[in-house]
Amino acid sequence: MKFFIDTADINEIKDLAATGMVDGVTTNPSLAAKSGKKFLDLVAEICAVVPGPVSAEVTALDHETMMKEAAVLRKIAKNVTIKVPLTPDGLKTCKALSDDGAMVNVTLCFSPAQALLAAKAGASFISPFVGRLDDIGSSGMDLIADILTIYESYDFNTEVLVASIRSPMHVVDAAKMGAHVATMPPSTLRQLFNHPLTDKGLKAFMDDWAKTGQSIL
Ligand code: E4P
Repeated sequence: MKFFIDTADINEIKDLAATGMVDGVTTNPSLAAKSGKKFLDLVAEICAVVPGPVSAEVTALDHETMMKEAAVLRKIAKNVTIKVPLTPDGLKTCKALSDDGAMVNVTLCFSPAQALLAAKAGASFISPFVGRLDDIGSSGMDLIADILTIYESYDFNTEVLVASIRSPMHVVDAAKMGAHVATMPPSTLRQLFNHPLTDKGLKAFMDDWAKTGQSIL
């Protein structure tokens, strides 16, 4: 399973990339706005740190302008993945871009039917938002299961990129289902490393080792 981080904070990206656990980055207009940086500079900076797919979202709502924006974003680096919204214009753009060899991430997916459309449009990634579904009392993980079931029967090249992740359990559940990618906030990726018994066990080992008075080096 691939791990992407969902952030536009370059310091977080550098810090977590150094762990070797980051296979890609997703951003969205809200995260870009929060960074306070010029969007094109920000995307270039992220692409220089992480060699895997870096999602940069178009901000136009119509196909023609989306294509123009995508052309600008694609020039930034080879690993830029164009992110388009799951709308008729977004999917038209997805089809045109994937036919032209670009990686495309279709975002804001909330139903299996939408995921089917994105796969038919040639998306490299479909981003179902599990946390936002949970927030309204629907099951985000049921959506992931449904999409995986549908995709299994066909020859689509679309990877299921579980998005809007809020906890380590979302990541584990997605992995158990066989989802291809999970994109998560930096805090969630850090949480994956932690277990109180690891801390407790390590402290006991170190205390006992100290008593020996030895050093390996
Ligand atoms: C993914 O690409 C989205 O940017 C992200 O996962 C949205 O998460 P949120 O619902 O926590 O804003």
